[in-house]
Amino acid sequence: MSSCWKKSNVVAGFAIIIIMSVITLSYFEKINFVSMLVHEMNIFSTPIPNTTVCKGIPAHNTITPLKDSRTFIIAPYFDNRKNKMTRVISIVHHKDVKELYCWFCNSSSGEIYISKAEIDVHSDRFDFPYGATDLKCLEPKDWEPRFVSIHWSPKGDIDQLPLFEIRNRDPEGSLVDFTVCISTMFGEYNNVLQFVQSMEMYKILGVGRVVIYKNSCSPLMQKVLDYYIAEGIVEIIPWPIDSYLKVSSYWHHSMDPKDIGYYGQITALNDCVYRNMYRSRYVLLNDMDEIILPGKYSDWKTMMQNLQEQHPDAGAFLFENHIFPKTVFTPTDMFNISSWSTVPGVNILSHVVREPDRKNVFNPRKIIIDPNKVVQTSVHSVLQMYGNSIEVPMDVALIYHCRVPQQVDLPRESLIKDTTLWRYNVSLIGNVNKVIQQIAV
Ligand SMILES: *[C@@H]1O[C@H](CO)[C@@H](O)[C@H](O)[C@H]1NC(C)=O
Ligand SMILES: *[C@@H]1O[C@H](CO)[C@@H](O)[C@H](O)[C@H]1NC(C)=O
Ligand SMILES: *[C@@H]1O[C@H](CO)[C@@H](O)[C@H](O)[C@H]1NC(C)=O
Ligand SMILES: *[C@@H]1O[C@H](CO)[C@@H](O)[C@H](O)[C@H]1NC(C)=O
Repeated sequence: MSSCWKKSNVVAGFAIIIIMSVITLSYFEKINFVSMLVHEMNIFSTPIPNTTVCKGIPAHNTITPLKDSRTFIIAPYFDNRKNKMTRVISIVHHKDVKELYCWFCNSSSGEIYISKAEIDVHSDRFDFPYGATDLKCLEPKDWEPRFVSIHWSPKGDIDQLPLFEIRNRDPEGSLVDFTVCISTMFGEYNNVLQFVQSMEMYKILGVGRVVIYKNSCSPLMQKVLDYYIAEGIVEIIPWPIDSYLKVSSYWHHSMDPKDIGYYGQITALNDCVYRNMYRSRYVLLNDMDEIILPGKYSDWKTMMQNLQEQHPDAGAFLFENHIFPKTVFTPTDMFNISSWSTVPGVNILSHVVREPDRKNVFNPRKIIIDPNKVVQTSVHSVLQMYGNSIEVPMDVALIYHCRVPQQVDLPRESLIKDTTLWRYNVSLIGNVNKVIQQIAV
C-alpha cells in the first residue's frame, strides 16, 4: 500500500507540472486530460481554480440515486481506522456497476482530488441483484476533504454531480451508552402497543437513542413517533427505498425475486453503525418486535460491563433469538392494563411462553456491537471487524421475540413458560400508561 502511494505521488507531481504548463487549456479539457492519467494510477490530484469551490448539487436525502440508476448513495463516512479513507455506504447493482470515483473537494482552495473507489459489495446479498456496498476511496494525504461527489467517471462536469458532506470527520453529538438501530419500519406499520412496550423496555434497560429507518407507518404510529422524537429518544431516518427499487419483504431472493432484500435492511444497519460510531458506546441491531432481555442482570449496562470484562477484545455480542408466539396467550388479570384495549397492536405481557430449541435447527442471533470495532455488519453476524464475536449464553440474555409462531403445530405443553419480562411489570405498565394518555387513543 505505501509503495503504491509513493508511486502515485510521484506521478501526480509530474502530472501537476504538466498541467501548470498548459494553463491555456479550458476547465473541461483539463479534466479530460487528468482522467486519462486517473485510469492508469487510480488516485490523482489536480488543482482547479478557486472559482469552482465545491460546486455540485448538495444532497439532502437519505438515498441519492446517481445518473446511472444502478448506484444509490446513502452517506460518506470518514474512516481512518486502517487507511485514511472515505467509506461511502451505498447500494449498487452487483454486476452492472464496475467503476466509480470519489471526487474530493477542498473547500478552501477548490482543489479536486479524484480517487478511484474500491467497490466492495457485502457478501451477504442473498442472491438479490442489488446489495449493501462500501465504496472505499483513499483520501488526499495532505488535507481533510469535507465534501465528496461520486461519479461513474473520472471526467465530467462537477456542477451536475450530487455533493455530499463527509460525516464523522469531526465526531459530534452527545455520547450515549446504548443506541438501538431499527432497520426499516414499513408496510404502514401500526403495531402501536408492541412498539410502545418495546420502546419503554429499551428505556428501562438503558437505551439512550433509538434510530428508526422509516419507510411507512400509520397516522397513529406517526403520532407515537412524534411523541418519542419530542422526548429526544427517537431519531427518524427517512427510508423511501421503494421509490427507487423493487423491494422484497423477504430476506432471500428465492422467496420473492425483487431488486433488494427486506427493504434494504442490511444497508440501513450499516449506515446506522457508522452514523453512531462516535455517538454511542454500543449499538443494538434488532427489530421492533425484539428485546434483548437480560436474565442475569437488571439492565444492559451491568450486562455489558460484565461481558466486556470477560471478553475485552470482543466487538460483537451475539444473542439467541427465542420466539414467544403472539398466538399463545397467558392471562394477565393481575395487571391493571384494561385501558390498553383501545390501542392497536400486540400486548407482549400476554405472551410469556417460548418455543423450545429444535435439534439441528440453528437459532439466528442478533447483535450488540461496539461500533468502533465494526467494519461491515449483516443481520445475524458481523462480516468484518477489528476484534472478535462472542456468543452470549441464553441464561445471560436472550432475544424476546414476539411474533407469529415458527413451530406452528406445537402443542401448548411443549412451550416453555418464561416470565422474565414480567419482572419489569411495574415500571413498564406505568410508563406505557403515560404514553397512551399522551397520544389519547
Ligand atoms: C486544502 O488544501 C490545503 C493543502 O493543499 C490544506 O492545507 C487545507 O487544509 C485544505 N482545506 C480543506 C478544507 O480541505
Ligand atoms: C476561495 O474562494 C472563497 C470564496 O469563494 C474564499 O473565501 C477563499 O478565501 C478562496 N480561497 C483561496 C485559497 O483563494
Ligand atoms: C388502573 O390504572 C388506571 C390508569 O390506567 C388508574 O386510573 C386506576 O386507578 C388503576 N386501578 C387500580 C385498581 O389500581
Ligand atoms: C411485578 O413486578 C414486581 C416487582 O417490581 C414483582 O414483585 C411482581 O411479582 C411482578 N408481578 C408478576 C405477576 O410477575
